[in-house]
Amino acid sequence: MSIVKDMSIAKSGADKINWVKNFMPVLNAINDEYSQSKPFAGLNVTISLHLEAKTAYMAQVFHHAGANVSICGSNPLSTQDDVCAALAESGVNVFATHACSEEEYFNYVERAVDNPPHIIIDDGGDLVHLLHTKRRDLIKNLYGGSEETTTGVNRLKKLDADGELAFPMIAANDAYMKYLFDNRYGTGQSTFDGIMRTTNLVIAGKTVVIAGYGWCGRGAAMRARGLGANVIVTEVDPIKSIEAVFDGFRVMPMTEAAPLGDIFLTLTGCNDVINKKHFELMKSGAMLANAGHFDVEINIPDLAAISKSRRTVKPNIEEFMVGDKKIYLLAEGRLVNLASGDGHPAEVMDLSFAVQFFSAMHILKNHESMENHVYLLPEDINVKIANIKLKALGVSIDTLTEEQRKYLGL
Ligand code: ADE
Repeated sequence: MSIVKDMSIAKSGADKINWVKNFMPVLNAINDEYSQSKPFAGLNVTISLHLEAKTAYMAQVFHHAGANVSICGSNPLSTQDDVCAALAESGVNVFATHACSEEEYFNYVERAVDNPPHIIIDDGGDLVHLLHTKRRDLIKNLYGGSEETTTGVNRLKKLDADGELAFPMIAANDAYMKYLFDNRYGTGQSTFDGIMRTTNLVIAGKTVVIAGYGWCGRGAAMRARGLGANVIVTEVDPIKSIEAVFDGFRVMPMTEAAPLGDIFLTLTGCNDVINKKHFELMKSGAMLANAGHFDVEINIPDLAAISKSRRTVKPNIEEFMVGDKKIYLLAEGRLVNLASGDGHPAEVMDLSFAVQFFSAMHILKNHESMENHVYLLPEDINVKIANIKLKALGVSIDTLTEEQRKYLGL
């Protein structure tokens, strides 16, 4: 049973899924192995993730591994209807439509737990929130789960610190094989892909202001520089700020960056990063985009309040008139890489989704001894994923000799 927009467009979604499979060797290896042994047979796995082709493939891998999979989106604009149709056709229960209302979105999250989940995979924390509020009755059935993003992990850590986390969760985001590649290289590339597709403008020579110098901000700053931009970084953390300085970027407060920037990109995980006092200082033509999980980083109500008009000038671009100035907002201030693009590259999501699969395996095997806390993925699983990827890339590396192991005390 699924709710999708249109089953007649499944062919285009299946083509997209087949394309990404060519570039996801780790997930392919997992699929080959576990479609035989079917470790999730008889279990319900519920997923809330950006519903595009790579995610669909991961959902199919869980399905082939025996799970009864239900999936909903994790943002109304990142859902691709053709992919949903193809996924539903392949036997997964899909509850998602592109650009649905907030009410529909949360209704879909609820439908995704109609089959009481044993294991969940969340992105941003909406599924975990549902299970801690309206559907606490489902906790007794649940082994645990894992979380994809920095924002979701922050929400989990708060629940854990307050003693309220009701089941074990693995912080998939905090695994080396996730954040070193997904947050940095994935966000770096997909964000500029989204901005360039939407605007069809040049990045070279523009001043790009990157708000936040976590792993995502580092990746975005690196790619902006590679595209020829003059990059300014804004931060609140003194250590990350020094890192940005040593990486060769100008670092300053947003009030100083506001009059200089041509493109502003937020990747902080925090709200109200660009607000009224900044909009008033910006030049005409400034463009605003967000790559953080929630649409709260650019204060859109503030922008609307000081604007005399607001209109859509191109798909995914709104023009706000602030006095005589034009300020452009991309993708409603939602994740620009997914709302205006296809998300991270397939080779990158290959690693992230391998982390998710092995997190679910870890929960499956160990849930009885796990407590209601946030866990890291064990180190040997990161190494296992890295080794499969290296093999697929055709890269061989050195190994320690016995004498070296002795020298290192291993
Ligand atoms: N594709 C699926 N999930 C994604 C995510 N969290 N970020 C970017 N691309 C994605």
